[in-house]
Amino acid sequence: MLRLQRPLPDSYTAATDEDLARRIGAAKEALGSRLLILGHHYQRDEVMRWADARGDSFGLSRIAAARHDAEFVVFCGVHFMAESADILTSDHQQVILPDLNAGCSMADMADADAVEEAWEALAEVTDIERVIPVTYMNSSAALKAFVGRNHGPVCTSSNARAVLTWALLEDGAGEPRADKVLFFPDQHLGRNTGFQLGWDEGDMRVWNQRRPLGGLTDADVKAATLLLWQGFCSVHQRFTTEHVAAFRAEHPDGIVVVHPECAHEVVDVADQVGSTDYIIGAVEKAPPGSVIGVGTEIHLVKRLDDEHPDRTVVSLDPIVCPCSTMFRIDAAHLCWVLEGLVEGEVRNRITVDPDTAADARVALERMLAIT
Ligand code: 13P
Ligand code: SF4
Repeated sequence: MLRLQRPLPDSYTAATDEDLARRIGAAKEALGSRLLILGHHYQRDEVMRWADARGDSFGLSRIAAARHDAEFVVFCGVHFMAESADILTSDHQQVILPDLNAGCSMADMADADAVEEAWEALAEVTDIERVIPVTYMNSSAALKAFVGRNHGPVCTSSNARAVLTWALLEDGAGEPRADKVLFFPDQHLGRNTGFQLGWDEGDMRVWNQRRPLGGLTDADVKAATLLLWQGFCSVHQRFTTEHVAAFRAEHPDGIVVVHPECAHEVVDVADQVGSTDYIIGAVEKAPPGSVIGVGTEIHLVKRLDDEHPDRTVVSLDPIVCPCSTMFRIDAAHLCWVLEGLVEGEVRNRITVDPDTAADARVALERMLAIT
């Protein structure tokens, strides 16, 4: 998805780290409680040091929504997170993304038109009233709105299990709400959660959006409980079982913790699996002296290692794997948006149109009611 970030003036690109730090500090002080800076766990340290709150994608949106006094919410993360914050905050709050090119390649793998087409194709071969769409938080506001309109919830990596249970296993009266879920955009989170809940390979089919009927036969669609959109995260998909085996050979007592966006065979050989917040908790709970091999974005892994000097935290992938879009937010872009606010100019505001926001809020609130 093309979004255009205009180049920054030289006074930002040529500034030294010290100068940028001094200017960010001054702008922050000038804006006081009117400003809230949120930092996702994958942000660089030069940005994270300024965050008033750190968290995972959903946790940060909740914080934004709870801080009604903050007129400006500067979201140091990626586009879908800033959109979710805009949906959940009040009208007087403005959400800002320091670099408009900070998208999420996985979120971009499912667009609203393609999902609408898939929905129509499904309706021709199965009772669509018995299908619930579920979108991962890593998706555009338009997709969340589609899900809201079609009786589905959003999910995050920490509550996908509860959401699929709600959709497929119980409705409060002991009956399943639906026979199938169309899950997007991350096939891995859907598959890993499906296995956790007891389904097997035969109950899941991958939906290839480039092929008619997702590349499936009518019989495939009828047999499937989980239809998994063929999206993935290029950062998490890098981790392999060979990485885990190499780590275990070097650290026989080590602990392996991975994010559920990793492929199922990797999750299968890990000791623990969970969201970014879960991974942080797993490192905190590990006994001093532990060596922990982590399968997630490198900035979080390095920060966990720095902040726990009595433990060793390493990436399972020896080749550094940053999220290139998260990495776009740097001190220069943060400084640029903050100095704009001090001068009375709101740069890079992220807004979701009211109709889309209303439908997307339904899907988000449905998730909240489930979890
Ligand atoms: P969290 O929901 O754990 O913050 O993860 C978001 C993400 O983009 C993982 O790749
Ligand atoms: Fe998207 Fe993957 Fe980056 Fe997370 S790590 S923001 S899923 S590309």
